[in-house]
Amino acid sequence: MTDPQIVLTERVQQALAHAFGAEHADADPLIRPSQFADFQANVAMSLAKRLRRAPREVAEAIRAELSDFPGTVEVSGPGFLNITLDDGWIAAEAQRMLDDPRLGVGTVTPTQTVVIDYSAPNAAKEMHVGHLRTTIVGDALARLHEHVGNTVIRQNHLGDWGTPFGMLIEHLLDIGEEAAVGQLEAGQGTEFYQAARAKFDGDEAFKQRARVRVTTLQSGDPDTLRLWHVFMDATVRYFNKVYSLLGVTLTDADIAGESMYNPMLERTCADLEASGTAELSEGALCVFPPGFTGSDDKPLPLIIRKSDGGYGYATTDMAAIRYRVHDLKAGRILYVVGADQALHFRMVFAAAQQAGWLPDEVSAEHVQIGMMLGKDGRRFKTRSGESVKLTDLLDEAIERATAAIADRGYDAATQAEIARAVGMGAVKYADLSVSHDSEYVFDFDRMLGFTGNTGPYMQYATARIRSIFRKADMEPAEVQGAITPGEPAERALSLHLLGFGELVSQVAAQSEPHRLCAFLFETASLFSTFYEQCPVLRTDVAPEVRASRLALCALTLRTLETGLDLLGVPVPERM
Ligand code: ARG
Repeated sequence: MTDPQIVLTERVQQALAHAFGAEHADADPLIRPSQFADFQANVAMSLAKRLRRAPREVAEAIRAELSDFPGTVEVSGPGFLNITLDDGWIAAEAQRMLDDPRLGVGTVTPTQTVVIDYSAPNAAKEMHVGHLRTTIVGDALARLHEHVGNTVIRQNHLGDWGTPFGMLIEHLLDIGEEAAVGQLEAGQGTEFYQAARAKFDGDEAFKQRARVRVTTLQSGDPDTLRLWHVFMDATVRYFNKVYSLLGVTLTDADIAGESMYNPMLERTCADLEASGTAELSEGALCVFPPGFTGSDDKPLPLIIRKSDGGYGYATTDMAAIRYRVHDLKAGRILYVVGADQALHFRMVFAAAQQAGWLPDEVSAEHVQIGMMLGKDGRRFKTRSGESVKLTDLLDEAIERATAAIADRGYDAATQAEIARAVGMGAVKYADLSVSHDSEYVFDFDRMLGFTGNTGPYMQYATARIRSIFRKADMEPAEVQGAITPGEPAERALSLHLLGFGELVSQVAAQSEPHRLCAFLFETASLFSTFYEQCPVLRTDVAPEVRASRLALCALTLRTLETGLDLLGVPVPERM
């Protein structure tokens, strides 16, 4: 582990234990980056209070224990410990990181099976921007967990079952299979749904047909199932188009839609009832997980079978959680779903615990996704108030990116490739760079900006380093020099890079991709300062300095590219 902050934390903890007794070995030394030194430790102040001693005296005692430390430790002010690491230590650690194909990112032990439920659009409706964000954040989490060595099982919990399918299939028959398939493949699920709905509401005969069709579908009638497949296959082809445009790793093998659980629902209910977890209440079968009450203080039900015998969203999620724990052997389940479903998931998890389907050693977590807002601060919509079609949105991103790089003189094919990477990178990075549970304003101008914490800025930073290597006429992998950070900007960049491994582990463990964005943004900023202050290829730069700086460029590039890849943000070689 090379993260300086962690190395220091451990060293200071040892010092605390030595100086004041083993009971202080776990105290947090509160080590933070500092403007006066590399780091500052503030532990002496709080400890002094507990020990009833003078803070400076406590700080001195800690300092004395750190005499063999690879750096200098000074006591300042009321008792701050200012810690500066030796250049030699930084150089050696940076070299170690450069030589490590994993850039200091460890693998978890023991490894876990992590089931990640994400994307999950509804087939009966258009895939909308809300699903865009769950898709992008979920995919980043999947990549991160795989990278730290966990076994990832992606589950795309498609909304592909339920009563609307009666009217959808009848509408499909009305307009003809071919026309329907064309419309669905083109991403016009919303129009298709609305047309079906209008007939359902206005045409009694159609309504009747739709009702009968639901029943034949539920009963497994082969002809109806074939029509359902026609509808679903076309819809999934559209979803796949969006996934491939976005570079999302979901495949057909990851589809585990609501329909998959349909055959399990009866038993789900029966088992919950038999174990006493569920009870009948006004004809409906309900679980009343402890601690959930409604506005009237009455226990809140999780309804798993309606009084008319129908199953719902909660029934499917009860079947799904049991399947994920029991069959998929999940150690951890992440539900990357809109924050507005928080209550639903809390109740499902509580009910599953009550039923004994979610043992203590398995954690189920709702990774809440904040709502996407328009610039007006309201739910993101088109000007006419409709929900924005995803492919339109992505096309616009690419169009705008094309305009932004139009003056760079690339041939058409290269330009198209870069524009796609920039457009998709901008949208994805914007989704990832704010904490997943906060609301988020969708703003093309901001996300496509070439400055600030944006996708294009990050991509530009990598392209700029690549261009240094083109000028040097070598590949980044060919660097030979020992990294010897001498200038302050070199030190600052090197020190920062050393934190990458620990950060990636934390980001995976805590489901916080935005912290990886912040780290990469800081990396790019520190690189900018370094590049301004430390010439690399200028002829008056000594050969060993040039070699060291090129090595630092290579390390920065690999860190940025690895980080962006873990986020699923594409990295064009030029921009
Ligand atoms: N299809 C649902 C929606 O669009 C999301 C499903 C999330 N996953 C789950 N296991 N409930 O709201």
